[in-house]
Amino acid sequence: MKNFCAGASNRKIFVYTFGCQMNEYDSLRLVRSLLLRGYDVVSKPEEADVIFVNTCSVRAKAEQKLYSFLGRLKRFKNRNPDMVIAVGGCVAQQLKEEILNRFPFVDIVVGTSGVSKLPDLIERAGTQARPYTVGRHVDLPGQERRPALTGGFFPEEEPSFGMHWLDPSSSKWSASVVEYVTIMQGCDNFCSYCIVPYVRGRERSRQVDEIIEEIKLLTARGAREIVLLGQNVNSYGKNLSPPVRFSELIERIASETDVVRLRFTTSHPKDLTEDLMACFRDVPILCPHLHLPFQAGSDRILALMNRGYTQAEYLKKVETLRCYRPDIALTADVMVGFPTETEEDFRETIKLIKIVEFDGLFSFKYSDRPFTSASSMKPKVDEETKTRWLVELQELQKAITLRKNKAEEGMVRVVLVEGESKLGSGQLTGRTPHNRIVNFEGSKELVGKEVAVRIVEGYAHSLKGELVEVHQP
Ligand code: 5AD
Ligand code: SF4
Repeated sequence: MKNFCAGASNRKIFVYTFGCQMNEYDSLRLVRSLLLRGYDVVSKPEEADVIFVNTCSVRAKAEQKLYSFLGRLKRFKNRNPDMVIAVGGCVAQQLKEEILNRFPFVDIVVGTSGVSKLPDLIERAGTQARPYTVGRHVDLPGQERRPALTGGFFPEEEPSFGMHWLDPSSSKWSASVVEYVTIMQGCDNFCSYCIVPYVRGRERSRQVDEIIEEIKLLTARGAREIVLLGQNVNSYGKNLSPPVRFSELIERIASETDVVRLRFTTSHPKDLTEDLMACFRDVPILCPHLHLPFQAGSDRILALMNRGYTQAEYLKKVETLRCYRPDIALTADVMVGFPTETEEDFRETIKLIKIVEFDGLFSFKYSDRPFTSASSMKPKVDEETKTRWLVELQELQKAITLRKNKAEEGMVRVVLVEGESKLGSGQLTGRTPHNRIVNFEGSKELVGKEVAVRIVEGYAHSLKGELVEVHQP
């Protein structure tokens, strides 16, 4: 957030984000609007006047974490009764009443369409006392308790893609090296385990011109890489009239903007069409990396999951994609312990991982989610088996990732420098086109530039490099 000039203000905000990149992006949008209104961002919740908790309900674990986190916030409110606590995101959308009942010190609850409303709600909450005595859960004597502020609940309110935080005329902000742009929201796939269609709604795509305009604004303010975001990003444009192909959008961004690097996430295998695959060969700014969740290797489980492809079909897509772009890096999401999953089914997942040899995997234990059809499927897989499978899968993937990272040693890669590394001591951090994180020594002036870096060591999660030359001014 240091890229932004915050105006003079004594109000400070702390944001805690659970879950996906969409949430990260929504939190960033909120922070930016508040920075433009003169707020400061702090890194410790106890220093804040406003705390925003952006929640995720995709997996049960995130929801449990949220409740213990909210419980802990109580003591901050106790110390500073004027503090404004706001909760948003998928859990807020789904469980507004429960949050307000269990955590009466929460001042604002917004649904998944509510991010753009938050700055105004926060200002309003800040000017109206909402007495609350922590511990006793009662109001202060003689003071009337204002009800919590709520809003932005889907489907009554449609989410805005909005550029409302991007005031083109304001000189108070500059973009980060890597910026995110939402191009579609919601999902129509109804995978049987997934809560997203119920809390984020049906698929809606944003107009091409609006997307291009936002990207132009971001690149004019210093962004070099753009990541296109959507729950089901490669299904983009189907519901626009007239429909627009995702590959067309990519080509238009490449020809009409100054983006240096382009990525997108998250893709569904069934929407990975050949014209999109061809973009990885034909559009130079499109980075050679694709996140393509497969979720399971067994055809029986894939059918129960309502994924719309078999293992053979997934593998065929990967093979075709590698014909278009042989060096493409692949990552994916996978889960273990879906209801009825047997040892034999799990072996199919292991088999798929061994065939594809992903560059990285995000792996989860299946958990029941409300509204989903999988939550009523039986029998469930016991926790011990899920753990055993997850450990085996992760060990396998760790070895594959490490081997691939070791194979990078000695290579010279073009790295887009994103900033100073958390490692400190003059280290910079950036990514290769294949999305591998590289840390290397260099001066801060290189941030935002593409530089050639020789990889000297490959680790499990990143690479160590040394600067060879600066690629562009
Ligand atoms: N249980 C476990 N993992 C899930 N995911 C989605 N729903 C569930 C669930 N009910 C995982 C999928 C998805 C990622 C974002 O979270 O792998 O791709
Ligand atoms: Fe959920 Fe499936 Fe849609 Fe992804 S594609 S958001 S897993 S329903």
